[in-house]
Amino acid sequence: MQKRETWGSRTGFIMAAVGSAIGLGNIWRFPYMVYENGGGAFLIPYFVAMLAAGIPFMILEFGLGQKFKGSAPKTFASISKRWEWLGWWQVMVAFIITTYYVVVIAWAINYLVLSFTQGWGDAPKDFFFGQFLGLTDSPMNLGSVQSSIFSATAAAWFFTFIAVFTGVKSGIERVSKIFMPLLFILVFIFIGRGLMLPGATEGLNWLFKPDFSAIMNGKVWADAFGQIFFSLSIGFGIMLAYSSYLPKDSDINNNACMTVFINCGFSIISGIMIFSVLGYMAQQQGVPVSEVAGSGVGLAFITLPTAINLMPAPVFFGVLFFLALVVAGLSSMISLCEVTVSALIDKLNITRKVAASIICALGFMVSIAFTTGGGLLLLDIVDHFVNNFGILIGGFIEIIFVAWLCDIEDLREHVNKTSEIKVGSMWTNSLRFIVPTMLGIMLVMNFVGDIS
Ligand code: PHE
Ligand code: NA
Repeated sequence: MQKRETWGSRTGFIMAAVGSAIGLGNIWRFPYMVYENGGGAFLIPYFVAMLAAGIPFMILEFGLGQKFKGSAPKTFASISKRWEWLGWWQVMVAFIITTYYVVVIAWAINYLVLSFTQGWGDAPKDFFFGQFLGLTDSPMNLGSVQSSIFSATAAAWFFTFIAVFTGVKSGIERVSKIFMPLLFILVFIFIGRGLMLPGATEGLNWLFKPDFSAIMNGKVWADAFGQIFFSLSIGFGIMLAYSSYLPKDSDINNNACMTVFINCGFSIISGIMIFSVLGYMAQQQGVPVSEVAGSGVGLAFITLPTAINLMPAPVFFGVLFFLALVVAGLSSMISLCEVTVSALIDKLNITRKVAASIICALGFMVSIAFTTGGGLLLLDIVDHFVNNFGILIGGFIEIIFVAWLCDIEDLREHVNKTSEIKVGSMWTNSLRFIVPTMLGIMLVMNFVGDIS
């Protein structure tokens, strides 16, 4: 048995956990979700979800990881040999995500380079689908690899590989301690200038203007909980793996709260960044903000470049935005990769270097499929199933297993032992009732949505 690695410092661990949590979802998913679900009023269900589910679940995962000192499969196997498969399910989901998440980072790397010259041209939409992804050329092109995407994918995998290969403390922790402060700085600089753009404050009005009727809408609540689970990277082994490297005496409850608060704070900051741009763009084009608001791939690779073309300092804004996207993406990518690598180390008792080499080589080969002309189509399909079912099923079964079938009181004692602030019956009740109910509702909603 190898001796288990540990984090160098408490800040280092929190930076790494925050690095995982803060990802593309904060930047391109959260702002639109707020806008669409009642604006400022959405923050109420969002904060309720954060307190009632996000923090309790985070404490649970940190506690399990620290107590059992293992990757997801090892942790569940230590509780009961019959439950090891649940960990492998989470590992499989994480591995699949790495194979396409990396390609989105690769797009962002390309756009970072393009932003020095606005190389996406005057028609960013045609550029993105046509020349860049190679989607519209001819059906034959669906199978051919786009070389610029391929190279950036290789680079992003290589970076991830180096970080994970080098180790918890000198690889993952070191990268996170540089990347997280950098990310906040990039976004703050962007906002500092962005809010001075004409129309920016109008954009923020659109974002935050509360529509309190949304609070009566069940879908808004489901979206709030869904965003919290996804955003915090809980329910699929990431936080388990990271907290398995915590020293025995670390304050679990405090670490969990810090991680959640920093992530959710960053989401709100991203909302301000995105909607100041959308407000400016709407004003320049003489349309209401509703015409330009959106999320996901379209927001990042079509709307933003279009807005940047109109801006007074296009290189400044373009570089800041795409660099932020790359930095946020890579730190999440590293955490996803660590799920699989830590599982292999535990299971096969091989070294970190060997495990990282196997996983990154394998992952890179699978990724190539997403760098082809048909990559986006494939990505959409895989992402749909992974997001709507893979993550939710893993999280749902995990919570049922841990909160109902295991001795949750025992775990409560464990997390309280080293924590200054203790959790009580509200914590266990949240994990037993609120979290599984909300995950269950989301699963059913996705399932019904798919068959109808
Ligand atoms: N939590 C990340 C986000 O909000 C997404 C993510 C999902 C990261 C899965 C890693 C793994 O963008
Ligand atoms: Na997040």
